[in-house]
Amino acid sequence: MDICQPFPAEKRFTIDIMTTRDKLLAYLQANPDCWVSGEILSRSLKVSRAAINKHIKKLRHDGYIIESSTKKGYRIGEQHDLISADEIRNHLTTTIFGQQKIFILKETDSTNLQAKKAAAEGEPEGTIVIAESQHSGRGRKGREWFSPSNAGIYASIILRPRISPAEAPGITLMTAVAVVESLISLYAIPLKIKWPNDILIGDKKIAGILTEISTDMDRVDYIIVGIGLNVNTAVHDFPAAIQKKATSLYAATGKRFSRVTVLKTILQEFETYYDLFKREGFSGIRDRWIAHSDIIGRNVMIRKIGEEVEGRIIDIDQEGVLILQDHLEKVHRIFSGDLVL
Ligand code: BTN
Repeated sequence: MDICQPFPAEKRFTIDIMTTRDKLLAYLQANPDCWVSGEILSRSLKVSRAAINKHIKKLRHDGYIIESSTKKGYRIGEQHDLISADEIRNHLTTTIFGQQKIFILKETDSTNLQAKKAAAEGEPEGTIVIAESQHSGRGRKGREWFSPSNAGIYASIILRPRISPAEAPGITLMTAVAVVESLISLYAIPLKIKWPNDILIGDKKIAGILTEISTDMDRVDYIIVGIGLNVNTAVHDFPAAIQKKATSLYAATGKRFSRVTVLKTILQEFETYYDLFKREGFSGIRDRWIAHSDIIGRNVMIRKIGEEVEGRIIDIDQEGVLILQDHLEKVHRIFSGDLVL
């Protein structure tokens, strides 16, 4: 394989939480199986060649197989995108998310199911269950979530907020903002939120959120937020049934991405928005949600069980309820359903 011409680091790394080590790893992983010279790395990451050597040694020590050649530089194999609790915690500045137990499962049915079990056994807020692959990954309405190994992020987070069950749907909207802002801050990718739980590039879905709630009388006992994000899946690897509707960071950009870097950034943003949500409810993030969704003013159809409503979305209120006006000018408050644009 040839020596790489990686795209400039400053375009790629716009956030502060990435350490030199993270950036170096992301750089190599974005260019799998091809050589990146030590000089380019040191110039792009603005550190000395000696520092690059030191970080390469440490990465090898942590399990990454990185080849080196005095003439060509360094290269990493395509499959080396390890998700480990240590990698996630490394320089993470959250206080809750990623700071409790992180269960990393090689294969599981569904991380949401496993997180529910963990929550029922008393694991605290901030606990995370992550899987390399899921054989029964689930989406809303019992849909399947395609979860191949080594390609995506399948993560479920335990929350224990002191909110009423009626406020819980706001958690999905808040998570969508956190995921979108993470990806934009990392890679400046144009993303949109499709109400209530889809994240799209163009008209293709790149991520979905499955929020499940357990209540105890009239208060929330725990909430599981499941995030599925297609990172390094190639278009032809998606099942035929979803090939036209699904995308991944790789399919959209032609570059491979470090799942750990993406996950860390999501945890960081998630904590920020969760704090805001607990203080101010959905109203605290409403403006950002509106900015990332292009739904206000659009004509849509909302499908609910046994019912369809058509009209124009005129607003989303302070509680996160969509406001739709039909052609008879009747106003409907939409709490749930599937949206067809
Ligand atoms: C949807 O788009 O309907 C939601 C998809 C959510 C998928 C994630 S992957 C991690 C977590 N575990 C699951 O079984 N589902 C969620």
